Amino acid sequence: MAREFSTVGVVGLGTMGAGIVEVFARNGIDVVAVEISEPALERGRITLKGSTDRAVAKGKLAEADRDALHERVHFAVGLDALHSVDLVIEAVPEHLDLKQRIFAELDRVCRPETILATNTSSLSVTEISVATSRPNQVIGIHFFNPAPVMKLVEVVRTVVTAPEVVADVEALCARLGKVDVTINDRAGFIANALLFGYLNHAVGMFESHYATREDIDAAMKLGCGLPMGPLALMDLIGLDTAYEILDTMYRRGGRDRRHAPVPLLKQMVTAGLLGRKSGRGFYTYERPGSPVVVPDEATPPATASALADGARAIAKVGVVGSGTMATGIIEVFAKAGYEVVSVTRGMEKSATVCEAVKTSLNKGVVRGKLAETDRDAALGRISWSATLEHLADVDLVVEAVVEELSVKKALFASLDEICKPGVVLATTTSSLPVIDVAMATQRPADVVGLHFFNPAPVMPLVEVVRTIRTSPEATATARAVCAALGKTGVVCGDRSGFIVNALLFPYLNDAVKMLEASYSTADDIDHAMKLGCGYPMGPFELLDVVGLDVSLAIQRELYLELREPGFAPAPLLEHLVTAGYLGRKTRRGFRDHSHR
Ligand SMILES: NC(=O)c1ccc[n+]([C@@H]2O[C@H](COP(=O)([O-])OP(=O)(O)OC[C@H]3O[C@@H](n4cnc5c(N)ncnc54)[C@H](O)[C@@H]3O)[C@@H](O)[C@H]2O)c1
Repeated sequence: MAREFSTVGVVGLGTMGAGIVEVFARNGIDVVAVEISEPALERGRITLKGSTDRAVAKGKLAEADRDALHERVHFAVGLDALHSVDLVIEAVPEHLDLKQRIFAELDRVCRPETILATNTSSLSVTEISVATSRPNQVIGIHFFNPAPVMKLVEVVRTVVTAPEVVADVEALCARLGKVDVTINDRAGFIANALLFGYLNHAVGMFESHYATREDIDAAMKLGCGLPMGPLALMDLIGLDTAYEILDTMYRRGGRDRRHAPVPLLKQMVTAGLLGRKSGRGFYTYERPGSPVVVPDEATPPATASALADGARAIAKVGVVGSGTMATGIIEVFAKAGYEVVSVTRGMEKSATVCEAVKTSLNKGVVRGKLAETDRDAALGRISWSATLEHLADVDLVVEAVVEELSVKKALFASLDEICKPGVVLATTTSSLPVIDVAMATQRPADVVGLHFFNPAPVMPLVEVVRTIRTSPEATATARAVCAALGKTGVVCGDRSGFIVNALLFPYLNDAVKMLEASYSTADDIDHAMKLGCGYPMGPFELLDVVGLDVSLAIQRELYLELREPGFAPAPLLEHLVTAGYLGRKTRRGFRDHSHR
């Protein structure tokens, strides 16, 4: 028989605690909600009210249910109010000594059979448990932010947690409508161990002016389908909490430099810029606690004014190449109303590309997304050629030939001779330094990267790469063109992986290392990232789709350029590639796809 939990206590009603109270009360469980002072208690009450009122306004909670929910919550200052609860969840700030003090006190106040749980993200549950006389009844119950929304709970058992306590807590999670993954006590558990290196890296990009906050966030949302960008997520988590988590992970997790908090974080915390909860973090919010971002001095002007930055007028575009990317890019430009000159290495190839563009446009017609007249007009705007000389009068060239530096350099040297002055020359490379390509011309100021994502007609993101020689006008032109294509152009520096791949692949590689260390299973790791962080796919699902060979190549590039020891490709990834397990394309990668 699973244990009955009729009353639970929650200690600390901040970002997480208030949400945890709501989760229990929504599911018919009485809650004793405890804070350190009256003002803090009042803040917790307001947070709970705000959240449930929003749920009512969105039609997700009936008014009567909200009122019943509030009646189940009893607010109190001080731990003494927890004398008769069945379970306590502690959600005070991420400091070991504070948590140990609270657990010692809880041990004294609570009934002997009460389970004591911590919501810590990174501290050792074992170290917290030994502050009590009942370490076998101490467990980690790690909710995700916002607790009422995110489905995942990480249940953390220590070496002394009693198996029946684990089973009881697992059953409770199910009653709360949550999905739990049960794991051992390790810094960051599953989700944060994979998330925080990425978040810290994104803060580093921002700190070094590699890209703006808006562009970093847009890149990860639009390029990877994440529910929010890393800097907006840092604001949601709270910068003080994030700092403590990183600091603990650095010290507990093998002193991985990637977890050493970026100095800017400490400065922001010291300055009181804690994120949403203080009304200002990486972004500025309407008021403390509000999710609504308001413009501030760093907010970029609306895209419409980009032309004012010296963007050049573009009417005619050359696209060089005949592969998947070139084909997609031709279609994108033609559909957006540009005159397009496609150049391939022979008229046979041109015919193939032409057929592919037609097929893709026809699909749009069949799906009702494109009128037949618009399809015909788009096709009418494309001219097909096998000689670069036809690019003499275009305003922009987009190169999408094979990913080999020597080939691209030779092509750019030819373009330099053929194209008129003032043309923007763009490469779609995803891994080569754009500056190498630019220096093959006499006009490096006009060369940019335009990194489209596959499939180009669908993906809403383009990374605009500016080298140290790119002129502001060329960058502005590239950005304006992206906007005219209906895409978001994010501007970044010329470093391996640009924004998206540099942030994405080390995380995927870390997931492989976690699997390799037998900390968890591929299924649980995928669950954790989907249900805890709202990712559209788990890391192993995504690796199998992208291809393990492609992923390994990108990770190797990052490692070679940045020399970051933590970026070293996971041996397991290398072995799978060597074994020919490349993912869906070979019907086997991390998973067996032969029957699907
Ligand atoms: N923020 C997140 O996204 C997130 C996600 C999962 C887990 N966590 C973990 O949850 C815990 C709480 O983090 P948070 O972000 O909610 O912090 P927070 O700073 O938003 O809230 C902490 C609350 O604890 C209260 N408090 C401090 N000392 C207390 C005491 N002695 N008795 C009672 N209350 C006390 C504070 O007044 C504050 O309201 C941390 O261990 C954190 O690592 C955070």
